[in-house]
Amino acid sequence: MKSMSPGRVNLIGDHTDYTGGLVFPMAIDRWTVCEGEITSDAITMTSDDLDGTVQIPLGSPFDSQIQPSWGRYISAVASLVTPTRGVSANLSTTIPVGAGLSSSAALELAVAYALNDTMQPTELALLMQQAEQLATGVPTGIMDQLCIATAREGMGTLIDCESLAVTHIPIPTDVEFVVQFIAHRTLEGSEYADRVRECADAEAVIGPLRHATLNDISRIENETIARRAHHVVSENLRVFEFTQALSTGDYSTAGELMRDSHESLSADFAVSTPQMDAVVRTLCETPGVYGSRMTGGGFGGCVVTMCTPGTELDGWRVRPVGAAERIS
Ligand code: GLA
Repeated sequence: MKSMSPGRVNLIGDHTDYTGGLVFPMAIDRWTVCEGEITSDAITMTSDDLDGTVQIPLGSPFDSQIQPSWGRYISAVASLVTPTRGVSANLSTTIPVGAGLSSSAALELAVAYALNDTMQPTELALLMQQAEQLATGVPTGIMDQLCIATAREGMGTLIDCESLAVTHIPIPTDVEFVVQFIAHRTLEGSEYADRVRECADAEAVIGPLRHATLNDISRIENETIARRAHHVVSENLRVFEFTQALSTGDYSTAGELMRDSHESLSADFAVSTPQMDAVVRTLCETPGVYGSRMTGGGFGGCVVTMCTPGTELDGWRVRPVGAAERIS
């Protein structure tokens, strides 16, 4: 059997998913592959990049102490997908790990498809969001798993994280997206969970951020919480405007929205780093570049840049690909 899952880069709309906001990621041409044999009674996994062999009897509950420790992801997935069979398989990946390109969501989906391929994409994405939270203890949103589960070749994936409605929007072929790695990071132990709490604090004052206006934010007395809310409310607007700009070929507006998004994530949401700010600043001054921003959870990871085709930039040119799937 063989299953595979792409990574994703988020083009705009970060730290909006866990308050039911808008996000616009695309699945990228880097994959995690799970390949091996079907067995009757157990899950056995090895990895090209990580040490040890993970062994899990079918039907086991989640084991947070499993060794090797990367087995936590496999254990979380196996405990949630009701495996229809065992597998003995090896994992390999071309997605850089800990770079904010959803290597963990790709791992979850590749393994889930290996164990059970009877689920609908949205159902699977919701379960794999739970798996991610179980494995890491971080209260992450639905963006990564839902993008990877529903992506279409050549398209970006606009997700309404309140209704979970997905709209595929063509990525024009006369622009390119380049991803540049800045620094390894993990969201475990980061301030990600603090931001989730701060958004909940804002919602306790003004109601769901998804439905709040910029005016509502003046009712929040705590300055930090008001800034966090300002990011989320303005970012939701930017996602919508970005998809419009991209669809109408207005790339300079789309690029400006990427810059504004970065500025908001850095100044108001405080999830960027000085190094990422400096790289984004330099990239935005580079001829051929429309816009650039940090992508994903932040605190390191990658920046994504939109540019005219052929612009010489460090990093990986990425193109939009289809969803995770079981191949054989
Ligand atoms: C991580 C999480 C996502 C999302 C982003 C920030 O990638 O897994 O759910 O919150 O951070 O947009």
